[in-house]
Amino acid sequence: ECSRAKAYSSSANLGSGFDILSMAHTAFFDIVEVCIEDRDRESIMIESNSNIPLDINKNSATYPLVRLMEERGIKASLRVKVIKGIPEGLGLGSSGASAAAAVSAFSELFNLNLSREELVKYAMYGEIASSGSPHPDNVAASVFGGIVSVVSVNPVRVVEIPLNYTFDILLFMPLNIKIEEKTKKAREMVPKMINLSDYVSNARSISSLLLGFVTGDRELIRIGLNDEIVEKARLPLFPYYPKIKEIAIKYDAIGACVSGAGPSLLVLADRMTDENKIVEEGTKTCNEFNVKCKVIRAEVAGGVKVE
Ligand code: HSE
Repeated sequence: ECSRAKAYSSSANLGSGFDILSMAHTAFFDIVEVCIEDRDRESIMIESNSNIPLDINKNSATYPLVRLMEERGIKASLRVKVIKGIPEGLGLGSSGASAAAAVSAFSELFNLNLSREELVKYAMYGEIASSGSPHPDNVAASVFGGIVSVVSVNPVRVVEIPLNYTFDILLFMPLNIKIEEKTKKAREMVPKMINLSDYVSNARSISSLLLGFVTGDRELIRIGLNDEIVEKARLPLFPYYPKIKEIAIKYDAIGACVSGAGPSLLVLADRMTDENKIVEEGTKTCNEFNVKCKVIRAEVAGGVKVE
């Protein structure tokens, strides 16, 4: 007896929304299949097409299931198959999507009828397993789809942001940058204390961005896609970012930001944007930094689906 679910990649933060905002996109997806092998024994076996950790407490798909089974008193021997489509370590919510798909498939298999917020709550354990920190933004986007705002973590509350502006997504993915434990390191770079003026500037950005999405005001989205705190502190991880953002603005993109903890970048484009020029000059800029960038076009994606 098996159940499988599909969850999309995502870009967390969207500039100033560190650990709050995230957007699911169609760039990539993961599929997780959970099967009951035996109801009288208790174990989890994991297999994958990719090089993910096989320790069930370190794997973002299986650790949420370990916790769910413990909390709900469910005993079974499971076989979990993780079909990875989302590249890891690029800031595209790879671990979050595997966790979202695993928890959804499990909920379906055991008829738990978990709400989407409950799915986020358990999937968040996957982020603890993979990076040591329970940030809920990527899992929330992969579970809900669209653009989400995490308004509370304990208890988990996620709000879907009504999106009234249509845009294309360009993802700049640096393929030859691999940093071990990137998310953990990137989180250590974020300052514990900030200036009031930086706080005000970021609060302006996030309110402008949200209002821009909701009212469909391009100018507000443009002003909103900025950050003075987290992206700045992490700049050594993606030194090509300021120049690529400049190019994006020069060719009338709505805006650009870092995707999650990087090193990928997100550019929002519309009818006014010269996408080809951004891809061409942006890729050249990557090369100047000895970085090999691949650019992918995507759209805003829906939420996790049991197949
Ligand atoms: N909000 C998280 C961070 C996302 O920026 O660290 C990590 O994928």
